[in-house]
Amino acid sequence: MSKKVMLITGASSGIGRATALKAAEAGYRIVITARREEKLDEIVNQVGIENALAVKADITDLAQMGKVVHQAVDRFGKLDVVYANAGVGLNKSGTEHGDPEEWNKLIDVNIKALLWTARLTLTHLRETKGHFLVTSSVAGKIHMKGSIYGASKWFAYGFGQNLAREMEEWGGRCTVICPGMVNTEFFDEPKPDKLKPEDVADAVLFAIQAPHRSTLREIELMPTN
Ligand SMILES: NC(=O)c1ccc[n+]([C@@H]2O[C@H](COP(=O)([O-])OP(=O)(O)OC[C@H]3O[C@@H](n4cnc5c(N)ncnc54)[C@H](OP(=O)(O)O)[C@@H]3O)[C@@H](O)[C@H]2O)c1
Repeated sequence: MSKKVMLITGASSGIGRATALKAAEAGYRIVITARREEKLDEIVNQVGIENALAVKADITDLAQMGKVVHQAVDRFGKLDVVYANAGVGLNKSGTEHGDPEEWNKLIDVNIKALLWTARLTLTHLRETKGHFLVTSSVAGKIHMKGSIYGASKWFAYGFGQNLAREMEEWGGRCTVICPGMVNTEFFDEPKPDKLKPEDVADAVLFAIQAPHRSTLREIELMPTN
């Protein structure tokens, strides 16, 4: 049987990078995308060019994302797993004093690009009865004072759950990943006592390696401290 193919967005750092490395280790062929090409190339060098394809793209550009999907299928022939993980936070918190320009960028990445990733890949996932995953957050399940970021993750949570119902019609699976705080570049200051990106990657691998009869609709993981 040919190796499974997994496309990961936001793969240049943090959760996406850790997932790419663990997926490759587990025998998946990986297609990784983000804007920082040199970071993607490091991953390809680490796992070997025969099992990895890096495609630089700004996920907020629909045409560029279309090329990522096209190149993935062109190179490896199919898509079994798509992990919509790219996301950004905000520098200015709250609503009353928030920055609408920053909100635009956040909506482009956390909401519109998520929809595009699904729209561009579902036809391919239907062919393999494949698996779509999205990184929401625990912030997409709780209420946080004035949090626009949290609201964008509520969208990701709700969309992922609705998509699960759409995909189940043809035997596809969808999982929403909801981490608490993870020590990544997402934060300006290191968070050494929180989750590691590898912890989230383990959860993703658990979901995609579960038997096909079993869909993990969501995984919430929190730092113990
Ligand atoms: N860290 C946490 O505590 C935490 C908790 C819950 C959920 N999350 C979510 O987890 C996901 C991954 O975040 P992370 O913590 O791993 O942070 P990260 O290291 O900052 O990763 C963010 C990724 O998104 C990519 N990205 C951002 N804007 C992009 C754009 N316009 N086009 C293409 N790629 C773009 C970045 O790549 P380039 O900059 O190279 O383009 C990077 O690979 C996000 O959705 C985040 O909201 C994080």
